[in-house]
Amino acid sequence: MSQAGKLLTRLEKEDLRILMAIEIGMKKSEYVTIKDIKFYSRYPLPETLYRLKNVHKLGLTIRNSEEREVAYQINSIGYDVLALHTLVEKKIISQLGPLLGKGKESDVYSCIDDDDVIYALKIYRMGRRSFKNVRKLRNITGERTHLSWLYINRLAAKKEYNALKEIYKLGLKTPKPIGYNRHIIVMEYLRGKEIVYYKDIEKPEELFNEILFQMREIYKKSNLVHGDLGEFNIISDEDGNILIIDWLQSIPSDHPNALKILERDIQNICNYFHKKYRIEYNLKDILDSFTE
Ligand SMILES: Nc1ncnc2c1ncn2[C@@H]1O[C@H](COP(=O)(O)OP(=O)(O)O)[C@@H](O)[C@H]1O
Ligand SMILES: [Mg+2]
Repeated sequence: MSQAGKLLTRLEKEDLRILMAIEIGMKKSEYVTIKDIKFYSRYPLPETLYRLKNVHKLGLTIRNSEEREVAYQINSIGYDVLALHTLVEKKIISQLGPLLGKGKESDVYSCIDDDDVIYALKIYRMGRRSFKNVRKLRNITGERTHLSWLYINRLAAKKEYNALKEIYKLGLKTPKPIGYNRHIIVMEYLRGKEIVYYKDIEKPEELFNEILFQMREIYKKSNLVHGDLGEFNIISDEDGNILIIDWLQSIPSDHPNALKILERDIQNICNYFHKKYRIEYNLKDILDSFTE
């Protein structure tokens, strides 16, 4: 289980309130002074200091003592704790399970709700390894001087959640969105693996056509282009059910680059099925079927 998941059970509500006070302060500045933490938490100074010591000892904050005033920020585990806590409070999940996969810019865990239904829980961790997408999101937010990783990851989760909502409501094959908070989204779980990890697929032609069909429907009806489509972002179970995942880089189909990016997505899929299963295709015909 994640470190945050384990820590969550050891925290008292006062600890969480201190973390939230730091979170609020971080909207304004990278580090939050004790005076501000006290203000946002509305605790008296002794309680503020006691709780700060607590959360810091548990490894949920980063202290900056270089300036005149000592100040804190929450670290990524602290942020996980806050989001997981809210998801539990809202009864979206009840328990976190093992890690399912580590992506380029996220960790994906399994989790369950009160009825023991299993979901996938994706935690955004951008800024750690990937800067490409951080730049892209920056374009959306405009040039703010103080743009914390907190905000970037929250924005990423919201973007992906909204894309899932748009696509899923049309009955197309993306995980059903269950809920989100801060930088975490909870979605339908498919017991399977990325198609790249199947040594052999019984009817590759059927799968190939199904993927193209889904892409086309999504393009035409949800007006979205995936933007990062390939054999790593399509999961399949043993029965051949598929889900197209990882919608962070999706763009609207009326975006000036949409066609170019759509073509790249299609080309990725075609290349993969051609190389691995010798499936022949006509790129122009496929492209035409999207835009006709
Ligand atoms: N809904 C899901 N059901 C099952 N496994 C999932 C689901 N979503 C993600 N995963 C697993 O987690 C991995 C990373 O997820 P992904 O959304 O592709 O993140 P990244 O943007 O970091 O690549 C996937 O490759 C897959 O193994
Ligand atoms: Mg991925």
